Amino acid sequence: MTTPSSLLRPFSKLLTIELLGRKVEVPENNPLLRCLQYLAPEPISYGRFCWNEDCQYCRVTYDMGEGTQERAALSCKLLVAEGMRIKEVSQEIRFCLRDWNKN
Ligand code: FES
Repeated sequence: MTTPSSLLRPFSKLLTIELLGRKVEVPENNPLLRCLQYLAPEPISYGRFCWNEDCQYCRVTYDMGEGTQERAALSCKLLVAEGMRIKEVSQEIRFCLRDWNKN
């Protein structure tokens, strides 16, 4: 299996985003689903994700901070940005993050 770090697009810094109420640091310049894989490598790698905007199992709801509009997106396509707040995730993502979320 390829290590998750080699799957990431090149990055020079980490961005802080909020994931289900927790602040986390993830690599800039990468789609959110790849960043979730960075946080929970094995479960996301074994998740039922197509990684190409087909399966819809990677849906999230997010905003860009207090008072900004909430949006729905596919996390395999959505590039992370500083301050992004992931409010809701699909059942598949929630399942994959179940152990990470306990830490
Ligand atoms: S992983 Fe299948 S649509 Fe995003």
